[in-house]
Amino acid sequence: MRNDAQTVFAPDAFDADTRKAFGHTASCHKHSLAEDPMFTDEGLASLLDRYPREAIGVYSMGDTAGSWRNGTLGDITGAELVEAVKAGKLWLNLRASNKKDAYLDEMNEQIFGELKRAMPGFMPFCKDLGLLISSPGAKVFYHLDVPRVMLFHVRGHKRVWVYPREEPFVHAKDLEAVVAEKTEEEIPYEAALDEGAQVFDLNPGEMLHWPQNGPHRIENGNDLNVSLSIEFMTPLALMRANAVLTNAWLRDKFGYEGGLEARPSLGWLPKAAFARVLRVIEPRHTKPEIIPKTFVVNAGYTA
Ligand SMILES: [Fe+2]
Repeated sequence: MRNDAQTVFAPDAFDADTRKAFGHTASCHKHSLAEDPMFTDEGLASLLDRYPREAIGVYSMGDTAGSWRNGTLGDITGAELVEAVKAGKLWLNLRASNKKDAYLDEMNEQIFGELKRAMPGFMPFCKDLGLLISSPGAKVFYHLDVPRVMLFHVRGHKRVWVYPREEPFVHAKDLEAVVAEKTEEEIPYEAALDEGAQVFDLNPGEMLHWPQNGPHRIENGNDLNVSLSIEFMTPLALMRANAVLTNAWLRDKFGYEGGLEARPSLGWLPKAAFARVLRVIEPRHTKPEIIPKTFVVNAGYTA
C-alpha cells in the first residue's frame, strides 16, 4: 500500500497559469515519487522478479536513428537485470505496469486523482503506465506518441528535446502513418531541427508533459535512469487522433491533405465519427512486432 499521506504534487503545484498551460506547451512539474523505495536497486530487483517477463520490452540501440534493436530476457534474476542495465546499453519498458502491479496501479490512480482535483474538467482515460529502466548513455530517437504523455523522472539524469507539433518538425503524412500504425513511432529527423527544440535536463523528482503528438528525443546521462512514462487520452486528444486516422484513410484513397490537426476544429466531428466506422470496417490488428528480436540478456550482460 502506498503511503497516501504523501501527495505526488505539492498542494500549490497547479496555479491558474500552470493549469492553462498543461498540455498546450511543454511544462515541467515537481513530484515526490523519486523518494519511493520501489525505485531503489532492491525495489526494482524485487519488481522485476515478480513482473511477467513477457510484458517487459527489451531494447538496445547504437548512436543513430534506426539502430533500435529488440531483445529478450534469458535466465536472469531481477538483481542481475538491474546490474545488466547499469553495465550495458539497454532500455527496459515494463509495459502496462498499472495492470500488472497493484502498487504501481495505486501510484497511477493517485497521480490522476490529484491532477483531476487540481484541474476540474480534466477527463483522462486509457491511462497506461510504463516503467522505464534504462542504461547510462541510452537514447530514444526522434519520434512522436499518439496519446498524451507525462514523463515522471525518478532516478538518474536525462536530457529531453521537445519540438513543436508543426512543420517542418513533423509532416502530416508521417503523423498519419504513426496514428494508423503503419510505422513505428520514429519519424524523419535531421540535426538542424534541434534549433527549434526546447531542451529539458530532467532530474529525479521532475515530470515533463508536452502537447499531444509533439516530437521528442531523449539521451540519458552517465547513470542508471528510471522513469514512469504515463500515457492517457482525453476526449479532445482522442478526437484529434481519430481525425488524423480519418485523414490517413482519405490520403490513402483520394490523396487528401488533412494537415496536422494542430487545433480543434468543427471538422473533427465528422472525421472522428468516420474513424469509428473505419475501426469497424478496417479493424486494426495487434501491432506487428516490426523489429525482430536479435539479442538475449543473460546474467553478466554488458553489451
Ligand atoms: Fe515518447
